[in-house]
Amino acid sequence: MSRKYLIAGNWKMNLTPDDSAALVEEINAVVGTQTSVQVCVCPPFTSLPVVSDKVEQTEVHLGAQNMHAEPSGAYTGEISAEMLRSLYVSHVILGHSERRQYCGETNASINQKILAAIQANLKPIYCVGETLGEREAGKTMEIVSTQVREGLEGYPSSALDLLVIAYEPVWAIGTGKTATDEMAQEVHAGIRQVLTEMFGEADASSIRILYGGSMKPENAAGLLAQPDVDGGLIGGASLSAKPFCDIVEAAIAAE
Ligand code: 13P
Repeated sequence: MSRKYLIAGNWKMNLTPDDSAALVEEINAVVGTQTSVQVCVCPPFTSLPVVSDKVEQTEVHLGAQNMHAEPSGAYTGEISAEMLRSLYVSHVILGHSERRQYCGETNASINQKILAAIQANLKPIYCVGETLGEREAGKTMEIVSTQVREGLEGYPSSALDLLVIAYEPVWAIGTGKTATDEMAQEVHAGIRQVLTEMFGEADASSIRILYGGSMKPENAAGLLAQPDVDGGLIGGASLSAKPFCDIVEAAIAAE
């Protein structure tokens, strides 16, 4: 099963609308017309309208970094799937470890968001990953398997074409420490095994599993060469056009 690489930039809580417009224009100029690799940028909510306008005539996809599970109502400060859709958002990062850590998100609450996202035809980029303590205790696969199973509880096979998983070891995020190619491949293969048990081999083999955690131009080629690494979710290196586009180029070269 051939899976097209997806390189997604998670801008986190960075960049004003003006800064975001400037960055996406630079990205558009370098990789905005190629189609061999999928490219997605995930700005903060306040930049979604301007970035949506800028990517409209390009091949660059637009993602959000979070959403609420309910369609509307008294949830001060929250954003619904439908609101994202109205801005032509196609992807939404869900369950990022920073939201698990700082905003109390759990596998169960993220599961509700994932199911709401696919109802609205949004593609969830579901983040999983172990902490350093969990890795050192030999619990990596146990933690990640539980995150996959509980986060995807009740997920319908008919919507698997929307699903993207991102393996982001928490100890590698923003630390400059990357999983080695072999470490990433081992966990990605383990995730695909869990997906196989849940959905069957044919469907599991079509789901993209991205790597995230200090991915940069220098380590992208090695990670992307792994058979179960289908792209990257890039934080720091997505905040300037050059390193982000260089990672996209590495994925194009690895196709
Ligand atoms: P860094 O690339 O800055 O380590 O962040 C990874 C990440 O959290 C992407 O979602």
